[in-house]
Amino acid sequence: MLKGRNLIEPMDFTLEELEQIFLLADEIIKNPTQYAKMCDGKILATLFFEPSTRTRFSFEAAMLRLGGNVIGFSEANSSSVAKGESISDTIRTVSCYADIAVMRHPKEGAALVASESSHIPVVNAGDGGHQHPTQTLTDLLTIRRVKGRLKNLTIGCCGDLKFGRTVHSLIKALSRYEGNKFILISPQELNVPEYIIRILKEKNIEFKQVEKMEEVIGELDILYMTRVQKERFFNEEDYVRLKDSYILCNEKMKLAKENMIVLHPLPRVNEIAYEVDDDPRAIYFKQAKYGMFVRMALICKLLGLA
Ligand code: CP
Repeated sequence: MLKGRNLIEPMDFTLEELEQIFLLADEIIKNPTQYAKMCDGKILATLFFEPSTRTRFSFEAAMLRLGGNVIGFSEANSSSVAKGESISDTIRTVSCYADIAVMRHPKEGAALVASESSHIPVVNAGDGGHQHPTQTLTDLLTIRRVKGRLKNLTIGCCGDLKFGRTVHSLIKALSRYEGNKFILISPQELNVPEYIIRILKEKNIEFKQVEKMEEVIGELDILYMTRVQKERFFNEEDYVRLKDSYILCNEKMKLAKENMIVLHPLPRVNEIAYEVDDDPRAIYFKQAKYGMFVRMALICKLLGLA
């Protein structure tokens, strides 16, 4: 039962609960009009302390397409947080007005802290370099619909694996399905955090860490590209040195399997050349669209409406 629950990190839901969300998302994609009034009278609050396009807009579009309403802010300065109000007091107040809240915050653990004081479901829309569980729902729904399975896949994660919260959440989530292997492609300075490596080792999951994409792209079923995130660096020089470590282009795509798919949580900067967008294996905009449908399903489930 997902009614009233929070989603703070990908492991909060069992595999069966995830499957319920994906099945509902499939239904909504097939029959959107049937769900157009599902959230009539309900209010979603979006509390975004960091910039966002896809996550905020897809949540807002999801609630509006379900017939509900949306309140919120897209920068901390436009709320009383600017006057020094705590996250805890903010969410307690928002709980008085809304039925469900979605929060993005630069500090790791912020959504968890909020959920502890909330009377309504809280969804983590990204907490610093930590986790981004609804991006993971988006990624899983996309893989499930395009590849037809979530198991027995070789997944290459490429780019900023140190600060990339989408990658941390995705590896945790996909490591629950049997037969998946990971190839982690990054410069050494941007290697995946040790706690993620520990999870892979504890579960005896096959993985390797490499620096060159060209050496491994031919082995992959999924290439998950990520941006080197300027906002997570303390030092501009390091960012400038590392920002163009990987640029996926048509030449490199020639080395990949015909049925490999390229995912990216977006936004992209330079890491995927625009020429790749025309390759049918590049499905990152389809992925962004699935993000709205899976969030529609999530809202319905957390509100106990479907
Ligand atoms: N994928 C993602 O989180 O994008 P936004 O930062 O635009 O929300």
